[in-house]
Amino acid sequence: MKKTNISITCMLAVVLLVSCGSPSSNTSGAGTWQSYSGDRNIEKRVDSVLKLMTLEEKIGQMTQFSANWSITGPVMSDDFQPYLEKGLIGSIFNATSVEGIRRMQQIAVDSTRLGIPILFGQDVIHGYKTIFPIPLAEACSWDMALMQRTAEIAALEAASDGINWTFAPMVDIGRDARWGRVMEGAGEDPYLGSRVAEARVIGFQGGAGGKALGELHTLLATGKHLAAYGAAEAGRDYNTAELSEHTLRNVYLPPYEAAAKAGVGTFMASFNEINGVPATANRWLLTDILRDEWGFKGFVVSDYTGINELIAHGVAEDEKHAAELAVNAGIDMDMTGATFIKYLTQLVEEGKVSEKTIDTAARRILEMKFLLGLFDDPYRYLDEERARQNTMTPEFMETARKAVAASVVLLKNDNQLLPITKEKAVTLALVGPLMNDSINLNGEWAGLGDRNKSVPILKGLTEKYKDSTVKLIYAEGSAITETSPEKIAGAVSAARRADVVIAAMGEDFNWSGEAAVRTNIRLPEAQRALLKALKETGKPVVLINLSGRPLDLSWEDEQMDAILQAWFPGTQGGHGIADVIAGDYNPSARLVMSFPRNVGQVPIYYNQKNTGRPVDLTNESIDYKSSYLDTSITPLYPFGYGLSYTTYTISDLRLDKSSMKAADDKIIITANVQNSGTMDGEMVVQLYIRDLVGSVTRPVKELKGFQKIPLKAGESRQVSFELRSEELAFYGIDRKKKTESGSFTLWVAQSSDDNENVATFRVE
Ligand code: BGC
Repeated sequence: MKKTNISITCMLAVVLLVSCGSPSSNTSGAGTWQSYSGDRNIEKRVDSVLKLMTLEEKIGQMTQFSANWSITGPVMSDDFQPYLEKGLIGSIFNATSVEGIRRMQQIAVDSTRLGIPILFGQDVIHGYKTIFPIPLAEACSWDMALMQRTAEIAALEAASDGINWTFAPMVDIGRDARWGRVMEGAGEDPYLGSRVAEARVIGFQGGAGGKALGELHTLLATGKHLAAYGAAEAGRDYNTAELSEHTLRNVYLPPYEAAAKAGVGTFMASFNEINGVPATANRWLLTDILRDEWGFKGFVVSDYTGINELIAHGVAEDEKHAAELAVNAGIDMDMTGATFIKYLTQLVEEGKVSEKTIDTAARRILEMKFLLGLFDDPYRYLDEERARQNTMTPEFMETARKAVAASVVLLKNDNQLLPITKEKAVTLALVGPLMNDSINLNGEWAGLGDRNKSVPILKGLTEKYKDSTVKLIYAEGSAITETSPEKIAGAVSAARRADVVIAAMGEDFNWSGEAAVRTNIRLPEAQRALLKALKETGKPVVLINLSGRPLDLSWEDEQMDAILQAWFPGTQGGHGIADVIAGDYNPSARLVMSFPRNVGQVPIYYNQKNTGRPVDLTNESIDYKSSYLDTSITPLYPFGYGLSYTTYTISDLRLDKSSMKAADDKIIITANVQNSGTMDGEMVVQLYIRDLVGSVTRPVKELKGFQKIPLKAGESRQVSFELRSEELAFYGIDRKKKTESGSFTLWVAQSSDDNENVATFRVE
């Protein structure tokens, strides 16, 4: 079936003067979309198609419909079938099934005038069928190779089902734990966020040089949501983002720019307005910055009905006006809104939109289809046999399990309660609503992951301690929001018969993700009541917290003996968590979002400004300082923080020189790191700087490098960082990006609040 269709396409392709040989290959690594776009051959091939297209057909390419399988916004009333049959659709997303994709592609290539293949999109966010930990969790691994690999696997599984395009990675900076979408990103830091963005783009698109999976450009990736969606006021989804250009450029934009530089094929405009202009109608953002400054050559899709929403925003009078604003700002494809297909022809006739704008947008979209090889084989990878071979393989499961263990952050571990190794002769009481749960484990945006197949923590621990001296007793104790005296009594009785209690608590998976905002970010009262009763038994309690955001764990931090932050871990959740609890994996994850002491501190992040009245952290009660009356200004657990079953020390911090030039210069920083404990582990060594005086105020700390290194018990190693003068550049008073001269402080640290190893240098 597949072959027949290829030959039909090839015939069409010949008509179109399009070569039917093997797809142009990408061997030059990340950043290839730009160079590809400059490829004359592709240009010629796109020209050959464009030349044959009517205005309406070009606008059709700029139109995307949802197959209404997973709805994240209003269902459009337009039935897209007639558009499909006329060749007036560029892309379809959320297609129901492999068969559905094949059928729709067949209509596009066999029954329309030009036979242009359709681009099939999907939200493949943290896995497709094999579900990995939520992106926020994975980012806590600080392991870029791991994140690239999980994105590659997700892309490979999805591509085998006929998907060509993922709406990921989400690279929005998240500083506000109320916002449910922090689960999709990489946390609060622009530097780390940029590195994660690169790893995920390269992973989704088929690996650096297209070699990682032996495939070329597995999926097209999307940098989303451009821009500053995470700056929504009060964490309320879709809400206004009001922020200075200085903050936009220095904090929010870097990860999008990193995605662009890594060769991401598409961007998605965000729903929010920025300083009065909705991103979807923001020419400054989508054209001046994205195209002119960053040189992005791919295409930009609106978010779901984002164009229509310009009316509610109050900048467009009606859908036609909205389409005009969006296309002239730089949106190339309308996601489900049908505004382009309905109004762009008329807008061109009226002279409000130029034909050149339409040509450019259609060209960008066609270019991606060529680059994906869809003109050579519209059913590329859509193959049941391939899907069987590439879905939930043992290797994928193994990677998923490792990803879970690498994402679990050990927040507290009094008296070295953990690990509970298999050799211990102890009884564990296993309790809590998420102990024997598989439904929640995948978290939100979990693709086609079968929620029933995810390994519950209870199962993971049962398998782990099978045939060992560790005995297990299970009692649920509480559902997520409700409990009863009987349920609590059952858990308390289990606790009394045990030596240690392990309680798996947290959020329902629906409480984070899109339109899932909380103003109370504590554990629900029912779970608190259970924890309190367990604590009163006098037995040590380990809390495993599963959540899509940092929670306020202040009470738990006081009451519990150990805390593991396990996020939503995905398919292999129970196994990966059991590996950590039993000490088969030594926790190495470090937080990428600060955990507040209470919701009143939010937004809270380590790279804050000093203010004119900074607080003396040794005495926060001094009056008239930038402090709180009722709590500290510090977070409960800071960015970069995480414990291990071993201890590490950093010493001998050295700089190869004490000053550098503002351009083309660098300082080499070295330090000795040692595993000073008794268990092998991996350490995340973090490099922070502070620019003491700037033309605009500078953060009190900024991450500028990190390395994750394995260290055997007792082992010492020298780490070295290269700090280039360009990496100190920022947008200053003149709104230009440059490195300013002056004095800097530098730390090589284990966490953003670790000030032990400090040095100074100057930029001349
Ligand atoms: C979300 C996007 C997503 C799109 C398609 C929107 O509601 O904001 O992140 O890619 O739906 O599902």
